[in-house]
Amino acid sequence: MENPCETVVDSGALREMPEPKGLPVLGTIVDLIISGGAAKLHLYNDKRHAELGPIYRERIGSVKAVFINSPDEFRRVFRLEGPKPIHFLPEAWTLYNEIRKCKRGLFFMDGDEWLYFRRIANKLLLRPKSEEFMSRPCQNAADSLASRWEIYSENGKLIPELEAQLYQWSIEVMLATLMGRNKWEEYGPNIMRKSENLAKNLHRIFEYSATLSLIPAKLAMRIKLPIWKKFVGSIDEVMEIVRILVPEIIRLDGDGLTKMILDEGVQGEDLVRIVADLILAAGDTTAYSMQWALFLLASHPDVQERLYESIKSLDQDEIPKDPFLKGVIKESLRLYPTAPFLTRFLPEDNIIGGYRVAKGELLLLSLYSSGRNDANFPEANEFRPERWIRTSTGEYKGVINPHATLPFALGARSCVGRKLAEYQISLTLAKIVKTFRMDCTNKDSVEMILHLVPVPSEPIQLLLTKRSWP
Ligand code: HEM
Repeated sequence: MENPCETVVDSGALREMPEPKGLPVLGTIVDLIISGGAAKLHLYNDKRHAELGPIYRERIGSVKAVFINSPDEFRRVFRLEGPKPIHFLPEAWTLYNEIRKCKRGLFFMDGDEWLYFRRIANKLLLRPKSEEFMSRPCQNAADSLASRWEIYSENGKLIPELEAQLYQWSIEVMLATLMGRNKWEEYGPNIMRKSENLAKNLHRIFEYSATLSLIPAKLAMRIKLPIWKKFVGSIDEVMEIVRILVPEIIRLDGDGLTKMILDEGVQGEDLVRIVADLILAAGDTTAYSMQWALFLLASHPDVQERLYESIKSLDQDEIPKDPFLKGVIKESLRLYPTAPFLTRFLPEDNIIGGYRVAKGELLLLSLYSSGRNDANFPEANEFRPERWIRTSTGEYKGVINPHATLPFALGARSCVGRKLAEYQISLTLAKIVKTFRMDCTNKDSVEMILHLVPVPSEPIQLLLTKRSWP
């Protein structure tokens, strides 16, 4: 029988959804600005949940949304999202695509077009055996990062420009995966040289779009705000680099992911935009996730030692399956979710948590807030990888509701690069922890701020000491 809760409901007996008081057009934007602006949206939202409950509606500037931090309602949203889920695209990004007449990859597609390309991407990136073509690029990038860092461990210097180095590392994995082993070894250094400015500009795009999220992008463009010009300039540069790189990777005809996509019948402009957006989607997400994991490990020497003991004698194939290492990655993405708000528009009117939600209304799933709630994770602000170890009955030891953290989202539109990201982060963390002991000299002053993705409020100062092998 059909579950009545899953269908459109028009009963008048529903409760009124809580909503903070705001100004007519601006909504509560002044409150947000007083609380620290877009950079502190995660904290502002967490406070709102504490005040108004797990579901509330709020208009902040030009964006009106329903915010949800209940794990049960998260799952309900993903059940109701339909076969071709629709997520929110920042206005500044869609406006850029419009003015430059730029056709983009998976993240920007919808409907049948999205489904067609998404099925191909799933088949290649999420099948059980995809690790086979991912393992070599991930291990190579892990080894080369550790060997570049040896010099700093020898002379006792902090790792310089950690953020930029991790961007390079994540772009290296993606490009090597796309090119394939046979061509990467020969042409890799040349391709990396050409991608040098990619990391810098990618980082800027995210910073500028965070500021732009508070202003209607069309207005920013019309009045030629400097931030709009900077935003457009940095995307132009990124697109120019990928437009040169991707055809070159295709021409080299290696045995990597690009060739596999081509063999699925994706050609010409479609191949270029799919591959280009894989590079862009992989860049900052993996770099920042890795940076937070290193920060947490360096700030918790006891956890670092436990991780070392857990993985020190494992082979490359065994490392990604190690339960403690998996716990480290889950904990770090729980505390610092790369996408602190997941977004969906439901295809029908529905009831979420006892409140009516209209078809097409923007839903924001507050992952930061649910991930740091003691009701879901006891001592939620603490970094405790062991909470993810399973007991003999199969439950997680220290987790009340595992669905309260969904760093890669859930369902048909969840992250297509999840396997690659997890593989790459596991192998690199293992390599670094096997080779060095880490310390963070500014661990007490680093805070999380949002530039769309969570970034540290100041550069993380990582100090390495080489381990002496037995
Ligand atoms: C730790 C690293 C990563 C995290 C936390 C992450 C997280 C996410 C999240 C939350 C989404 C949005 C899903 C939604 O709207 O529901 C997403 C989408 C996406 N991710 Fe990732 N991602 C990571 C790494 C990667 C990598 C390495 C790639 C490339 C291989 C990638 C490619 C994509 C693409 C193409 C989409 C759009 C999918 C679609 O709309 O169908 N991601 N990711």
